[in-house]
Amino acid sequence: MSRYFRAKIADNHSLNSKTFLITISPFKKAPAPKPGQFYMIEAGDSYDPLLKRPFSFFRKTSGGIQFLYTVKGKGTSLMKDYKRGKVISIIGPLGTGYPKPEKGVTPLLVAGGTGIASIFSLAENFSKRSCLMYGAKCKDELLIINELKCLCNKSVVCTDDGSAGEKCTVADLLNNFINSRLAHTDPYVLYACGPKPMLEVISRIAIKHGIKGYVSLEENMACGFGACLGCVVKTVNGYKRVCKEGPVFPIEEIIW
Ligand SMILES: Cc1cc2nc3c(=O)[nH]c(=O)nc-3n(C[C@H](O)[C@H](O)[C@H](O)COP(=O)(O)OP(=O)(O)OC[C@H]3O[C@@H](n4cnc5c(N)ncnc54)[C@H](O)[C@@H]3O)c2cc1C
Ligand code: FES
Repeated sequence: MSRYFRAKIADNHSLNSKTFLITISPFKKAPAPKPGQFYMIEAGDSYDPLLKRPFSFFRKTSGGIQFLYTVKGKGTSLMKDYKRGKVISIIGPLGTGYPKPEKGVTPLLVAGGTGIASIFSLAENFSKRSCLMYGAKCKDELLIINELKCLCNKSVVCTDDGSAGEKCTVADLLNNFINSRLAHTDPYVLYACGPKPMLEVISRIAIKHGIKGYVSLEENMACGFGACLGCVVKTVNGYKRVCKEGPVFPIEEIIW
């Protein structure tokens, strides 16, 4: 099935001053997305910006496919003004999804900032089996908290300024979690998405404690489907394309 399709904007509303939730309704049946996959979305009406922008699959509803996006530059500024009924072109779902955990293994979900967009679909899939650690700069930037609390077995949040949850980083939350469970033998698997420096620290903590896991990387992208090599990262198995072999990689594979 072709991954290129056109879709109508069904809804596009703000969740805070810079983050929006957009729902797109494809004109024809599009391939089903897996948690961790992403779509390249047309940003604007003209040739500037020329390239589509990558966004993680957030959720599928009866209204269509949803994405959660933060306004960063030109493309996302144009997207935030998309009105209901507008038609845009999209490519997806692209990339690899998160691998499923082995039986009896508890998923540890770690999200920083808009990394929650990718982690949310996992939380939904694991229906009450996962433990979530989620951090943002401030209270206003912690998104969809009530839904997440319902979806996860346990959830802890933190902010840089202490305006909600604990005043610390998600790395501190992960360390606390592991230290409080040292006497327990439960097997865990880590799934993390967020800024690269956060993913590096989280991966090192997990590796140190013998926890397996996966990170979803967000590199700048041009084509989104493996043709331009614009998104390569260094791994222990050579250079890999984030859009094709990723965006999800085992934590021990990335050379930070
Ligand atoms: C696989 C993948 C999934 C993503 N999922 C989401 C998501 O669910 N929600 C969301 O808000 N964002 C997500 N992003 C990031 C998003 O694609 C960028 O923020 C967006 O492309 C910026 O476009 P722009 O035209 O507004 O900004 P530009 O004008 O292109 O750039 C503005 C600033 O953003 C930086 N930037 C551009 N692209 C990226 C990127 N890929 N990662 C980090 N910084 C970038 C630039 O370096 C620049 O500093 C994802 C990126 C990838 C690769
Ligand atoms: S964005 Fe072109 S190869 Fe990944």
